[in-house]
Amino acid sequence: MPQATYNFPAGFLWGSATAAHQVEGGNANNNWSAWEAQPGRILNGDRSNLACDWWSGRWSEDFDRAAETHQNAHRMSIEWSRIQPRPDRWDEDALDHYREMIRGMLARGLTPMITLHHFTDPLWFSELGGWEQENAPELFEKFAAHVVEALKEYVTLWVTINEPNVYVVSGYMGTDFPPGKSDAQAAFAVMRNLIRGHAAVYKTIKRIQKNSAIGIALNYRSLKPASAASPIDRALAKFAHNSFNESFLRTLKTGQLRFSTQRAGIPEAIGTQDFVGVNYYTRDLVQFSPLAFRDFFMKRFFPKDAALSQSGFIANVPEGMFESLKWANAFGLPIYITENGVEDAADDLRPRYLIEHLHQVWRAINFNYPIKGYFHWSLVDNFEWERGWSQRFGLWGLDVVTQARIRRPSVDLFAEICKQNAISSDLVQRYAPESFNLLFPVN
Ligand code: NOJ
Repeated sequence: MPQATYNFPAGFLWGSATAAHQVEGGNANNNWSAWEAQPGRILNGDRSNLACDWWSGRWSEDFDRAAETHQNAHRMSIEWSRIQPRPDRWDEDALDHYREMIRGMLARGLTPMITLHHFTDPLWFSELGGWEQENAPELFEKFAAHVVEALKEYVTLWVTINEPNVYVVSGYMGTDFPPGKSDAQAAFAVMRNLIRGHAAVYKTIKRIQKNSAIGIALNYRSLKPASAASPIDRALAKFAHNSFNESFLRTLKTGQLRFSTQRAGIPEAIGTQDFVGVNYYTRDLVQFSPLAFRDFFMKRFFPKDAALSQSGFIANVPEGMFESLKWANAFGLPIYITENGVEDAADDLRPRYLIEHLHQVWRAINFNYPIKGYFHWSLVDNFEWERGWSQRFGLWGLDVVTQARIRRPSVDLFAEICKQNAISSDLVQRYAPESFNLLFPVN
């Protein structure tokens, strides 16, 4: 049997990622808590409630878990509605709380990457019109300035906005996220304002902290034609790719936002990115269907031969990881994998998914793509938005009733990779023998 070790570069960041509303518990002043209270919005009527109880202090035991299992970084977000509960009120205690958490990371050797907007908005902000309002960027910038001033001595890695493409598609083209409007005009206004908000915050952070590194965490979905021989499938896959994957970050290069037939100039966004943050999970095949008139005549499905996650939400397509990194590399900037993972309470697919995706990351590094770190989604099971508690993305499981953590085999797998800064044939043999031939072919 072949023996080999795939090494990662020195100084590589190995971590996991979380988001405030999904782990903190007790968030009652944002648009998601209101959304959860509406009947029928969340699968099984689930609520985030205590979530992982981080706000009462359980962050500390979870950061211990991360550090003890050799992670050296953590990505988390700051909840805007806690810091600015009303437009004219700043909560310094909440800021102290975040300071304590981040000091807790540093004390454990975890480099913090801080996200300023991860899907949730303060209620007062939503009531004013959310990201549709023309002055949304200024309001976001004020919040961000306050946070960055408070955390600048601890943090240099910043994500302004998490998955702006998912925020728009799920909240303004579909009804999974608040405000659940299907309104193309509003969707475009929100896209434009998110980019303006990002650009304003980028400039503010740079003013406060010259040595900062700032990016967006973009959800990259691999979208391929179902039939490579079909010109219409090819055209639709390209259209979907341009709309979903390209539109935000291309605007940071060109200053021109293009989405479907709509156009807007945002010249102030040019060059407002120091790294590309990639959240990669899966691939869809795109096929023309005359019946799918609501979806631009596109039917999407997973590649037939790909293993599916527990609830069929994610297909294991590691080549899509490589594709996303190749795409990110074209921006000529450092790259972070800001999220990657799979929902799998039984931990059946996760070991294989993790190993095969990290193998693609290693391959991409060998093409000299400047990849600086990998953040696994997630450290512990957490509140999965409109799918509530039905999907379990944690390395550690969570018993929502008792708050007990359940150590899944993937904890030890990931710990060994982080510790060795490498994937060895021996490790693959022990944790995911079914992936062995793919990673270490005999000829
Ligand atoms: C992306 C989002 O950023 C995160 O909030 C979510 O839980 C994961 N994907 C899994 O769906």
